[in-house]
Amino acid sequence: MAKKTIEDVCVSGKKVLVRVDFNVPIDENGQVSDDKRIKAALPTIQYLLDHKAKVILCSHLGRPKGAPDSKYSLAPVGARLSELLPDVNIWFAEDTIGQSAQTAIDDMKDGEIVLLENVRFYKEETDNDPEFAKKLADLADLYVSDAFGTVHRAHASTAGVAAYLPAVAGFLIGKELGVMGEALDNPVRPFVAILGGAKVSDKIGVIKNLLNKCDSLIIGGGMAYTFFKAQGYEIGDSLLDADSIELAKELLATAKERGVNILLPVDTVVAKEFSADAEHKTVPSNEIPAGWQGLDIGQKSVALFSDTIKAAKTVIWNGPMGVFEFPAFAIGTAGVAAACAECKGTTIIGGGDSASAVKKLGFADKMTHISTGGGASLEFLEGKTLPGVAVLNDK
Ligand code: 3PG
Repeated sequence: MAKKTIEDVCVSGKKVLVRVDFNVPIDENGQVSDDKRIKAALPTIQYLLDHKAKVILCSHLGRPKGAPDSKYSLAPVGARLSELLPDVNIWFAEDTIGQSAQTAIDDMKDGEIVLLENVRFYKEETDNDPEFAKKLADLADLYVSDAFGTVHRAHASTAGVAAYLPAVAGFLIGKELGVMGEALDNPVRPFVAILGGAKVSDKIGVIKNLLNKCDSLIIGGGMAYTFFKAQGYEIGDSLLDADSIELAKELLATAKERGVNILLPVDTVVAKEFSADAEHKTVPSNEIPAGWQGLDIGQKSVALFSDTIKAAKTVIWNGPMGVFEFPAFAIGTAGVAAACAECKGTTIIGGGDSASAVKKLGFADKMTHISTGGGASLEFLEGKTLPGVAVLNDK
């Protein structure tokens, strides 16, 4: 059922608690090194400011151990937000539900922002403690969820708080669910899914769900070797998810039954060891020699995958094709990114590693949508209910 959004409620003059995902990287100088998630929340924040709301921003950063830890302070995020919104008064509260937060909120005017300190400085946050959720709710008149990257977590600020306040979605949640939901439920065909990453077991849910929906499924990355093993190939020292071999066989059989075209790498870049400057060569995927390990897909696979990707009308990609952190083994991931950039259809990049790869390779503006959520987009692609969305008020 469709959820209410900020456009369905009156926000003017209200204290609005906005859960954002400002879990961004902070560099050694204490500066935000990638502000994509902050920028992604700006449409919602700007709408609330334009409608004269009092905007109370709440987020986590990192995984502190349920107690204050300056390493995980949101202060650098506040500084970056002030640069992005130079004409707005932004107050930083040094706690989340304590006196500093309350005073800042009491003193704020319509059209101003209070950024609360990291909500995970309280253990009650990740415990989804109802009393803590109530205290958060008591700070505001309305709750807006715009933290797409965290909607798969049933925490106090992402789910619990909605029991005590009217709860609606912000624009980022609407955009993420809209683009990915449309691709899953109503894809323009051919619909091609590309999955990479290390372990089959991490992607079982996604593979199963996508096998009901896509026309072609491209499998690369570390998990391809488990599929090779399932087909009876020797894989040398390549990564093996031994517990998933039978499952890989079942998934291949299901794909066949459903007429889904599964594409596995036909050649593999193998290395003597797992290191950036390891001796390496390209071999057919069914001839990986003993003592060598696969670290990337080969050029023939890139060409094969690229043909399918470029002819697609809808593409969803989650997970790199190889160890792209090492330039020598980033060629497969770069090739797939280039093919997605050339594809004329809708191209959706799941968050996490594939999103970083696309950005690093300079293709970000060529994609239809790059999700701000790693785990969240994966759970959405699995067809799971996202707790932070489920709690929002229905239209
Ligand atoms: C993310 O970066 O994926 C989100 O911010 C969620 O963070 P978490 O995995 O620490 O809950």
